[in-house]
Amino acid sequence: MTILFCDVVRSTELALRVDAESLRKVMTRYFEQVRGTIDHHGGVVEKFIGDAVLAVFGAPRAQEDHALRAVRAATEIRSTIADLNTELHQSWEVTLEVAIGLNSGDVFVGDGAAGHAIVTGSAVNLAARLEQAAAPGEILLGSETYRLVRDAVEAQPIHGLSLKGLPDERAAHRLLRLTDAGAVPARRLDSPLVGRVREMTLLVDTLERCASGRRCHLVTVLGVAGIGKSRLAAEFIEDARTRAAVLRGRCLPYGEGITFRPVAEMIAQAASIGDLAAHDDARQGIRDLLRDQERGELVAERVGELLGLKPASAPPEETFWAIRRVFESLAQKEPLVLVFDDVHWAQPMLLDLLEYLAEQIRDVPLEMLCLGRPELLEVRPHWGTGALDPLTIHLEQLSRDEMGGLLQNLLGNRELPQSASRRLTESADGNPFFLEEIISMLIDDGSLARRGDEWEADEVTDMPLPPTISGLLTARLDRLGPDERAAIGTASVIGKEFPIAAIQELLTHRSSPDLDASLGSLVYKDLLRPAEASDRLVFRHVLVREAAYEGMPKSERVDLHERYASWLEDDASPRADEQQELIGHHLERAHHLLFEIAPGDARVAQLAHRAGRCLASAGKRAAGRGHRRATVELLKRSAALLPPEDADRAGVLPDLAEALMQEGEIAQVEPVLAEALAFARSRGDRALEARAMLAISELRMLTDARGITADRLRSVAEDAVAVLEAVGTAPDLAEALLYLGTSHWLAGDIRAMLEVSERSLDLARGSGDWEAIYSSILYVGQALVLGDTPCAAGARRMESLLRQTEGHRMAQASAALDLAMLLSLMERAEEAEMRAADALEVFVDLGQGRWIASAQLTEGSIAWSRGDLQRAESSILAAHEWYAGRGETFQAMEAATDLARVLCDVGRLEEARVLVDEVKGNAADYDVEIQVSWRSVGSRIHSGLGHHQAALALANEAAGLVAGTDLMNLQGDVYADLAEVRAAAGSPSEAEEARLTSLATFERKGNLVGVRRASRLLGRTS
Ligand SMILES: Nc1ncnc2c1ncn2[C@@H]1O[C@H](COP(=O)(O)OP(=O)(O)OP(=O)(O)O)[C@@H](O)[C@H]1O
Ligand SMILES: [Mg+2]
Repeated sequence: MTILFCDVVRSTELALRVDAESLRKVMTRYFEQVRGTIDHHGGVVEKFIGDAVLAVFGAPRAQEDHALRAVRAATEIRSTIADLNTELHQSWEVTLEVAIGLNSGDVFVGDGAAGHAIVTGSAVNLAARLEQAAAPGEILLGSETYRLVRDAVEAQPIHGLSLKGLPDERAAHRLLRLTDAGAVPARRLDSPLVGRVREMTLLVDTLERCASGRRCHLVTVLGVAGIGKSRLAAEFIEDARTRAAVLRGRCLPYGEGITFRPVAEMIAQAASIGDLAAHDDARQGIRDLLRDQERGELVAERVGELLGLKPASAPPEETFWAIRRVFESLAQKEPLVLVFDDVHWAQPMLLDLLEYLAEQIRDVPLEMLCLGRPELLEVRPHWGTGALDPLTIHLEQLSRDEMGGLLQNLLGNRELPQSASRRLTESADGNPFFLEEIISMLIDDGSLARRGDEWEADEVTDMPLPPTISGLLTARLDRLGPDERAAIGTASVIGKEFPIAAIQELLTHRSSPDLDASLGSLVYKDLLRPAEASDRLVFRHVLVREAAYEGMPKSERVDLHERYASWLEDDASPRADEQQELIGHHLERAHHLLFEIAPGDARVAQLAHRAGRCLASAGKRAAGRGHRRATVELLKRSAALLPPEDADRAGVLPDLAEALMQEGEIAQVEPVLAEALAFARSRGDRALEARAMLAISELRMLTDARGITADRLRSVAEDAVAVLEAVGTAPDLAEALLYLGTSHWLAGDIRAMLEVSERSLDLARGSGDWEAIYSSILYVGQALVLGDTPCAAGARRMESLLRQTEGHRMAQASAALDLAMLLSLMERAEEAEMRAADALEVFVDLGQGRWIASAQLTEGSIAWSRGDLQRAESSILAAHEWYAGRGETFQAMEAATDLARVLCDVGRLEEARVLVDEVKGNAADYDVEIQVSWRSVGSRIHSGLGHHQAALALANEAAGLVAGTDLMNLQGDVYADLAEVRAAAGSPSEAEEARLTSLATFERKGNLVGVRRASRLLGRTS
């Protein structure tokens, strides 16, 4: 146990300055405070000796962590005295100062009156002497106390302290501070690193390469549980800290983690944010971090969303971008090392982010170190291959010699009999964690015992040792007392890391007398460890957790999962977003387990329903934030839980289909939609039916261009709009309107497209649904460019949309592209180029390949309109390659016709013809725009090659088709092409007629580039 001695310094002086009555009051306050603090930490005030207090920790009831409790009490006394002093100073102009001595050891404990122990012995004496030797405000620790708490404190050795009345000099420590207030002293088996020389060199060299080349390198360390990944990283960090800033983040197993938690941890470290809950401080911290950075405010805002300081409103790509900016700006100041531990548990979205960072960060020295189990490669077979020079280190088992060294280190360099040590190292199979656990078990059993700093071993040679780590852990857990087992079992249901309060709550039905003691003992046995947050603990190793979980009867697990879910439901956490997923996860586990043991139980259905609903709502949230993969996963699980007749399936299936479609999992979509449709019809759910029909049409369009017609799509969309107007939600209706918009676009009715898109935008704005707003703006922009809205009016509308989307970079950039297009048609080429370049920069910045291609296409058009054909060709070609390479046929065809047009202009007719033939072969009949444009370009090619009849035929067909549309720019081009073709075929007056139509069309549109083209033709037609 530990003795605490605390005395007021210079109390005689105090007595002289303050009158007796006031002094009594002061001292009463002081005693109250000290007693309260000692009680609070579980100590017992043994007696008052004058102004001194003698307290004991660890008696009469044993406490594993008596020393740390006493140290905590001592530091708290010191700080409460400081508070008390402010008060005392105001009232009496006096202040108190205390000195404290602590010592641990065996003391004699007798049964005193009133439950008080009577303690005597030399340890008590020494504590008193230490207190006397302490200066005012100082806390001195005896050597035994220091040994017990050294993991948790910073202290300064005092040598040669001679203590009054004691014969020899004793080593003591002056306590500077508690380093880890939540820590409990663990029976840590610390050993210096053995082996791993080559691996360390690789990590160190890579950092050097990063620094000298100002580059970002990705290093992945893979290896099985317990092989030493985290340890290797810890050693490397220790070394790297002298040359680089290091940030660490850790992923947690599924059901515990929050997607971006590791990154949030890192940013909090970088910005020195202690407590994220203190929002204002945290925000200020982030702003300080990003001060003077380009677009620092916006980055700070996005990062704030990530840290949960405010609800997220940006699409994931902007979050990615902001994170990248933070790390880049940190690495600009000094080399940076980012350590992501346990990446095999990372959510898919976080893996996406890590790969994005590894690929996109440039020109700054940054080493990204990812640690994980080999399972990582099962979920990401091509992990990291896109990064610059990625390096993967596979951590192998330690050699026999290394294991021998490790064993010796662990036992404090005491020799074991050779047969015993061979047996231990061989059983551990090259895995240092395994070896540590074997030793721990022997210690639990008393076969190995530490006496002071020495080890004693017996019977080690005969003890049966389980052959696997998990077998060993199970054996260790079996040896625990019932309270400890209940505590660790309950914790295992919650997760690798868990809040102590939750255990308390879940255990209330058991009459567990002292949870603190059980947890303390589990920490002492190094099965649990203190987590970073002081109110949480974490399993020493995930395998311990697994063993504890498996060791509990399933029926108990069912209850615990369910009760924990309810506890979470009641806990109004600010992270409500991810909370639903977590609750769903626990209910799902409860359901699966109960189904295994009692499929007939009435609770099975109930649990399925509750779990399914939670996962559905989590899935919807994920969809709203643009986390597609997560959406698919959550909704699939939800659909698997909700039985076919469950009404809540209605909300799940269409969203699941949509997410699957966006993720490109086309083959899985069809059955989901078929079920949704059947379900909707059987229940007369018209809104659902309408949405399912729409999705089926979209699917048809994607998979088989000829599987549907524009008319069919329009009628489905019109029906859906009508139904949803009556019974649907705003975002659903907005979406249906855009389908309708697509059908108008395909039919070349741009005015109608514009009208429904504007309506969709209104609805989307009203509901605040970000995805819907974003898609509506896209449609509005396209319609303004393509249709009969005069360019100037279109540009004004786009400018106002740009103002309204301030802060959303993706929306802004895509709107800027449409604006650039309009400006270019108005011959404001410089402004147009600027807008397009800005947009392109954003897309590159955010790593948006599809949008980069789209911007290149726009740049190509701008270049073409100012007559820079070379530039036009290269930009359009790049876009075409991107689309074609990804099988995005619609866009690829658009790019191909644009390119063919440019090639025609420079007389490379054969190349142009190849492109046009390709388009002709692929274009859907109902897509009027593409059908017109390939014909029109085709007619010029034929004409150029001297095939005038074929040319005229195609040009006339194009003119015939385009006449029924309001695709104004296209119309102007078609008539201009027709004029050229006719002129070449020797019909000048007909050519002039076409030219005038073209001119008039361009004039109406305000397309000055077109007007110029039509005017230039004048010389050739007449
Ligand atoms: N080379 C080594 N020398 C000494 N001790 C080691 C060495 N490697 C690992 N250890 C010890 O073995 C234990 C397990 O190592 P560590 O936690 O690094 O494993 P890990 O590979 O990160 O496992 P996990 O996949 O579970 O995270 C730790 O206590 C660690 O200190
Ligand atoms: Mg690890």
